[in-house]
Amino acid sequence: MGESEVYEDFHDIPENDAYEEASKLIKNHKGKVIAFTGSGISAEAGIPTFRGKDGLWNKYKPEELATPEAFRRDPRKVWEWYKWRMKKIAKAEPTLAHKVLAKWEERGIILGIVTQNVDGLHQRAGSKEVVELHGSIWRVRCTRCGKEYNLGFGNVPEEDLPKCKECGGLLRPAVVWFHEPLPARNWMMAESLFNEAEVILVVGTSGLVYPAASLPVNAAVQGKALIEINPEDTPLTSLSRVKIKAKASEAFKKLEEMVS
Ligand code: OAD
Repeated sequence: MGESEVYEDFHDIPENDAYEEASKLIKNHKGKVIAFTGSGISAEAGIPTFRGKDGLWNKYKPEELATPEAFRRDPRKVWEWYKWRMKKIAKAEPTLAHKVLAKWEERGIILGIVTQNVDGLHQRAGSKEVVELHGSIWRVRCTRCGKEYNLGFGNVPEEDLPKCKECGGLLRPAVVWFHEPLPARNWMMAESLFNEAEVILVVGTSGLVYPAASLPVNAAVQGKALIEINPEDTPLTSLSRVKIKAKASEAFKKLEEMVS
């Protein structure tokens, strides 16, 4: 066996061993575990991911739909796309993976969740400590006076171009677009959860979007254990202590049985 083969086989530990090791880490670090999630955790709820075969960024151009410039150029088009996504998400139910994470928070196993998702499914599953790094599709913000409104899960605006009740300015989705910084407060809350954590469940993210991906990368560099749950390999795989190569719900079903 050549050296490169050894390297490639590094994460090919038998599936049962990966679950054993992951559940041991979770139990031994109870209360010091957090989850870092991406669109893959909501894929089984019928919400498309961004990359990959059926990913949104395969069909749509982010520069036409998810940048401040695109919104200035054609707010109607951007709103149309967001309302289409809101309607899709409104029909979705949290998956078993979302539900297990909520249950684990209640039982003091996990401290909280840092998510890149804007769909609100973690909160809908009952999770309380959720940091939304990229904002929420269920909140809107006035482009003139900055006032933010919480629409509530499932409430899709009816108007073509929703307006601010205070000043009449144009409202925009309160999500982070390309070329925009992440909300400072959320970033600080995410860093503080990562600082407290000893074990990080990295679920359903390609790990390609920065600065979000720097959180698990830095955690791994500090010697914290990453448990990656993803049917595909990502740039985070080689940094992970354990790789569970499975869909999120399948993985959490087994882990829940082993952790209980
Ligand atoms: P991506 O679409 O980049 O990656 C989704 C990941 O989920 C991939 O690695 C898939 O292999 C994995 N996956 C698919 N189905 C899964 C399943 N059932 N269980 C577990 N994993 C599964 O999505 P994100 O990493 O979330 O940003 O993307 C990061 C950011 O890029 C998003 O927040 C969004 C996007 O542009 C903004 O909108 C600012």
